[in-house]
Amino acid sequence: MLDIIEQLDKMRAAAREGGGVKRIEAQHGKGKLTARERLELLLDADTFEEWDMFVEHRCTDFGMQDNKIPGDGVVTGYGMINGRLVFVFSQDFTVFGGALSEAHAEKICKVMDQAMKVGAPVIGLNDSGGARIQEGVASLGGYAEVFQRNVMASGVVPQISMIMGPCAGGAVYSPAMTDFIFMVRDSSYMFVTGPEVVKTVTHEEVTAEELGGAATHTSRSGVADLAFDNDVEALLMLRRFFNYLPLNNRDGVPERPSGDPPERLDMSLDTLVPENPNKPYDIKELILKTVDDGDFFELQPDYAKNIVIGMARMAGRTVGIVANNPQVLAGCLDIKSSIKAARFVRFCDAFSIPVITFVDVPGFMPGTSQEYGGIIKHGAKLLYAYAECTVPKVTVITRKAYGGAYDVMSSKHLRGDVNFAWPNAEIAVMGAKGAVEIIFRGDKGDPTKLAAKEAEYKARFANPFVAGARGFIDDVIQPHETRKRICRSLAMLKDKQLSNPWRKHGNMPL
Ligand code: HXC
Repeated sequence: MLDIIEQLDKMRAAAREGGGVKRIEAQHGKGKLTARERLELLLDADTFEEWDMFVEHRCTDFGMQDNKIPGDGVVTGYGMINGRLVFVFSQDFTVFGGALSEAHAEKICKVMDQAMKVGAPVIGLNDSGGARIQEGVASLGGYAEVFQRNVMASGVVPQISMIMGPCAGGAVYSPAMTDFIFMVRDSSYMFVTGPEVVKTVTHEEVTAEELGGAATHTSRSGVADLAFDNDVEALLMLRRFFNYLPLNNRDGVPERPSGDPPERLDMSLDTLVPENPNKPYDIKELILKTVDDGDFFELQPDYAKNIVIGMARMAGRTVGIVANNPQVLAGCLDIKSSIKAARFVRFCDAFSIPVITFVDVPGFMPGTSQEYGGIIKHGAKLLYAYAECTVPKVTVITRKAYGGAYDVMSSKHLRGDVNFAWPNAEIAVMGAKGAVEIIFRGDKGDPTKLAAKEAEYKARFANPFVAGARGFIDDVIQPHETRKRICRSLAMLKDKQLSNPWRKHGNMPL
């Protein structure tokens, strides 16, 4: 018996060594942690239960039968983050570059299946060259098995991908189907094919960083939600982010007691919006002053900055925040911002996270570049997302709510539960100048008359009371009481029940 125990210890030690000391040193040399070191940081101490440590690949081509490493390039299992259950896989770049074999895929599928059965999130730490080339179609099949599970798990348990190395092919398509993608600056890349293939096919010369580095994906493509400076920061921030998430689509939002009184007033908000309606102001100041403890976890801060999204808490419970940002493009909705916010609203809706929307929007962005890019279809995504959404929706119009964008931004007509406006709000089809130029076109040559009409239009429509008179706005509130009124609304809405008619699925404008 003692011999067997000793043998087991040896086998475990071999598995823990992955691709060997040299490759581990190379991994460290690039400023990267190993797959196991990453899990140690991510999970609560001594909670990791590892599965399938002894799994090996079954490939016999290209001499692979003599090149087997127990675990086959991925460490899988479950553990806890701040006492809450999570399933994990962590790819080991020291073993065949973390490339995915059929057996490697089976290990990932096993934890995904179990996560679905018990209702717990899946976190993937990705560091992989994609499909294992030596295995051919077996590895492609393996990826497709993972993809299928990504789709089945979507909206059932949260899925988060941390990109922690050069990820290509299937190693980016699986993350693309998860809810959130985070990257590490200067050591992680995402591309369908790397710079060398790009050069051969399109004759473009591009570095890995330009093609698929963290800056590219957090600011240009919008593929990734956030980037962090190194592995340690990334994993600690991932633990923080995890605290906001429900475990599954039936669990409800987690609660974290806060010392921040729900009825807290903030008098400084009364002067946040400038007198001049064309002057911008910092919408994040409003968010930070409204949510619990000023703690706002912003997502995609460097992409489509004209809309702000992220997680926060109100009275201890997770909420999703969506806010137009008057500092960028005057807060107009364009293609990128519509897609960014639509996907976020759908995540919140899938996992019963209430959505708070701060509105200051002059309308949809006009122009050929937007029309040619399909703003009609992409703007409709946000409209669709808000209209479909059944979670509690609280909306505050802080200044402008013009045109179609008024409708889109969680208006009463899209089943907004509680819709507030600040006293200076302007709710109309369009701004006074544009409106007068259209409806009094005949008076174009008479600036005095036009100015009078503009003043008349402003007085009539540039306020929240016309909408209030119709019940489209539930109340006009003082800016300083915004937190209190939202917290009361959310408490009232805690047990809200609303469902959409049965259907296989809708056909959102993709
Ligand atoms: C088998 C692989 C591999 C792969 C890397 N390795 N990728 N082994 N299959 N896909 C091995 C290397 O042979 C090497 O082994 C070790 O991993 C480290 O790789 P390096 O190239 O030395 O590292 P680096 O210079 O950092 O470059 C990493 C890389 C590059 C950018 C990922 O290796 C690369 O371009 N790999 C191929 C990527 C790719 O085209 N994958 C297939 C995608 S198709 P040794 O023994 O020397 O340490 C796909 C289809 C899925 O995934 C379906 C999608 C819908």
